[in-house]
Amino acid sequence: MFFLLAVVISLAAILPPVLGTRGATCNATTPCSSDYPCCSEYGFCGNGYYCLGGCDPISSHSLNSCKPNPICHSANYTLSDTSRILSNYTYFNGNASEYDWVVQQGSIFNATSDGEPAIALTLTENNGGTLLSSTRYVHYGRITARLKTGRWAGVVTAFITMSSLKDEIDWEFPGDATTEGQTNYFWQGVIPQTTNGVTETGLGDTYSNWHDFTIDWQPDTLTFLVDGNVTRTVKASDCVNNATGVTEYPNTPSRIQLSLWPAGISTEPQGTIQWAGGMINWNDPDYVSAGHFYALFQSVSVQCNDTTPMNSSVTSYVYGPNVTLDTPSIAYSNATTLINNAGRLLGSNAMPVTFVSTLFASALVTQLL
Ligand SMILES: *[C@@H]1O[C@H](CO)[C@@H](O)[C@H](O)[C@H]1NC(C)=O
Ligand SMILES: *[C@@H]1O[C@H](CO)[C@@H](O)[C@H](O)[C@H]1NC(C)=O
Ligand SMILES: *[C@@H]1O[C@H](CO)[C@@H](O)[C@H](O)[C@H]1NC(C)=O
Ligand SMILES: *[C@@H]1O[C@H](CO)[C@@H](O)[C@H](O)[C@H]1NC(C)=O
Ligand SMILES: *[C@@H]1O[C@H](CO)[C@@H](O)[C@H](O)[C@H]1NC(C)=O
Ligand SMILES: *[C@@H]1O[C@H](CO)[C@@H](O)[C@H](O)[C@H]1NC(C)=O
Ligand SMILES: *[C@@H]1O[C@H](CO)[C@@H](O)[C@H](O)[C@H]1NC(C)=O
Ligand SMILES: *[C@@H]1O[C@H](CO)[C@@H](O)[C@H](O)[C@H]1NC(C)=O
Ligand SMILES: *[C@@H]1O[C@H](CO)[C@@H](O)[C@H](O)[C@H]1NC(C)=O
Ligand SMILES: *[C@@H]1O[C@H](CO)[C@@H](O)[C@H](O)[C@H]1NC(C)=O
Ligand SMILES: *[C@@H]1O[C@H](CO)[C@@H](O)[C@H](O)[C@H]1NC(C)=O
Repeated sequence: MFFLLAVVISLAAILPPVLGTRGATCNATTPCSSDYPCCSEYGFCGNGYYCLGGCDPISSHSLNSCKPNPICHSANYTLSDTSRILSNYTYFNGNASEYDWVVQQGSIFNATSDGEPAIALTLTENNGGTLLSSTRYVHYGRITARLKTGRWAGVVTAFITMSSLKDEIDWEFPGDATTEGQTNYFWQGVIPQTTNGVTETGLGDTYSNWHDFTIDWQPDTLTFLVDGNVTRTVKASDCVNNATGVTEYPNTPSRIQLSLWPAGISTEPQGTIQWAGGMINWNDPDYVSAGHFYALFQSVSVQCNDTTPMNSSVTSYVYGPNVTLDTPSIAYSNATTLINNAGRLLGSNAMPVTFVSTLFASALVTQLL
């Protein structure tokens, strides 16, 4: 049984108008120009928030165009504390002390299930799903998310890590199989000839029951766990591409991302639709009665395992030139992670503060499912 509390989705404070302006597309061979120097995670040049989370240093104007990546902090992030979640990413200024999470797409609401306060991520026919990203990065560490998945074919619940170079580690849950979870990993966005994906079975009902899913990412080993029990181990030494000699193992600082996304829609590739259990049924009684699909996330705990000691002045990770073939160096930095080196400076497309505040009128929603 799942009760929604009275929910107020609002931005607590008047936000600084940071924003950003979009320019051309970008990739490693065609990086951004100096006017829109930052290549966003979606491959568009821009300034302002384009230079924050997910900004790709290799495809940006220069290696230091992207803002430094906020350093890992060990913590148990209780997601029902929505004061730590910025509901619209475009207003983020890079201050990871102010927010733990940003909503990059979609919307969330407070929900309690089996007595545990949580947030629900929504998917509607129009919102394209919901994506939350951590404001801090992890450069090795053990990350556990306590969650309940969706249960609808074509609807995928996901808990992943993603780096600015598209190193990726996944726990994903296609909603047609609520006793299974898929683990996977990618190096620099390369799709391997044979998938690295593995289906973990016998998990118990992931829709009805809370489970702790762990990604334990260490420099030499990647371990996936369910409720503290190991289900899969990957060794970095087994990820050597024998043709190139490159170790194709995630090794760059990564954000944590939580999402509910539509895989069963006509714009997705046929293989993705099949993987997710088919097309989404927008006439599903659950969807019709609630007006959305949802997945629940209670908390995310992070135990950082940075490989070299740091002192208290370290604020961030920065990319340097490659140390080995195709592997950029990662260093600590004391540089600010904020846009324009300050919290309240305007982006080029900024709006006055008073106008911004009125965009976020509070909405009160009371529902019973
Ligand atoms: C969600 O619930 C928590 C208490 O569990 C409360 O502190 C928070 O303000 C609520 N958030 C919203 C958006 O209502
Ligand atoms: C990189 O972007 C340029 C410009 O959009 C495009 O012509 C080129 O095909 C892209 N290269 C790759 C490898 O995608
Ligand atoms: C976030 O704010 C931007 C700028 O005002 C707006 O265009 C966008 O629609 C907002 N996103 C959401 C999900 O509300
Ligand atoms: C960042 O956020 C923290 C916590 O809200 C605040 O104390 C600090 O002043 C902010 N830093 C800047 C430069 O705005
Ligand atoms: C984890 O292991 C414990 C001890 O062997 C067992 O009782 C429990 O059922 C396991 N949990 C899962 C999800 O397999
Ligand atoms: C490379 O070769 C080693 C030894 O034969 C093997 O264990 C490993 O799986 C191979 N790597 C890949 C990515 O196929
Ligand atoms: C985080 O804290 C909550 C609330 O105390 C707890 O229920 C949850 O198990 C913790 N999560 C982890 C992964 O330790
Ligand atoms: C990771 O960090 C935790 C907490 O500091 C520590 O107990 C653990 O031994 C570390 N693990 C590795 C593999 O370094
Ligand atoms: C702190 O660490 C940084 C980065 O490793 C280094 O540049 C700096 O000198 C250190 N500061 C102190 C006071 O040790
Ligand atoms: C450095 O590594 C990046 C990312 O793997 C790669 O795209 C680039 O070609 C490398 N540069 C050189 C000079 O090897
Ligand atoms: C970073 O450290 C250097 C060397 O210790 C110091 O000169 C500089 O002022 C520091 N920068 C910041 C933003 O703290």
